[in-house]
Amino acid sequence: MDTKQRNYTILTKFMKTDWSDSVDLENIKNGAIDDLPILPLDFQLSRSAIKELSDIYDQNQEQSHSICTTTDLPDTYQKLTIFGPDSLEDYKKFHLSTHTSSSWDEFNDIMKNMDLDWRLPANHLRKEMESFPYKRLYTIEYFCKKPGEYSSVHIDRDNKKLWKGVHNRIYVPLDWDDTMEFGCYGLGKFVMEPGRFYALNGNAYIHGAWNLSRKKTCKSIIVVVDNHCQSYDDLVKVSYAKHNLYK
Ligand SMILES: [Fe+2]
Repeated sequence: MDTKQRNYTILTKFMKTDWSDSVDLENIKNGAIDDLPILPLDFQLSRSAIKELSDIYDQNQEQSHSICTTTDLPDTYQKLTIFGPDSLEDYKKFHLSTHTSSSWDEFNDIMKNMDLDWRLPANHLRKEMESFPYKRLYTIEYFCKKPGEYSSVHIDRDNKKLWKGVHNRIYVPLDWDDTMEFGCYGLGKFVMEPGRFYALNGNAYIHGAWNLSRKKTCKSIIVVVDNHCQSYDDLVKVSYAKHNLYK
């Protein structure tokens, strides 16, 4: 069995795991909100924003690139920058710094001369992001899965001194049906709401995803922000009360 087949087998087992009576789930429920593997946030894009993002992807997908810090998986991740650096060189530098920087000062020093701006005309997203709380926005990128594509069970490599707990990367599915499955430690696979922002504690807990469709590309975006601010903490509290997956 080669690495790719082995990773697919592990992902299959992971997706089939029933965590309902597990000690792991009990520990998560009894732990801190900030330590949850994933938290749906009380923030959701409008249908117009989702439609616009879907159309923009269709029109620009040939500009996708595969720069990623992941080196220990056979998967390649196609990304397309919506907001972020203007060159692939800078994008590469940004990606590397998310796991090599050991403090925000160090990270921001690397980012200081980087031109971060909107690269695609996602006007609805841009407008709606004005009410999403963060200290600084670094990138928003498409992370789409073609028919049959998957992400092996893995852990993200972002430095925990910068991104920790639910103060982490934000995953936003743009569409969802029963051919798309996302699973994470302690919870297994669950149905995601299109346009909802999910704080993914991906550098603490293993997770994986696959697109089982034969025809449809599953579209999502990933938002990378520094969300260490009171307004984000307030959003976390409200979100946990309203969208708790662990009851
Ligand atoms: Fe990940």
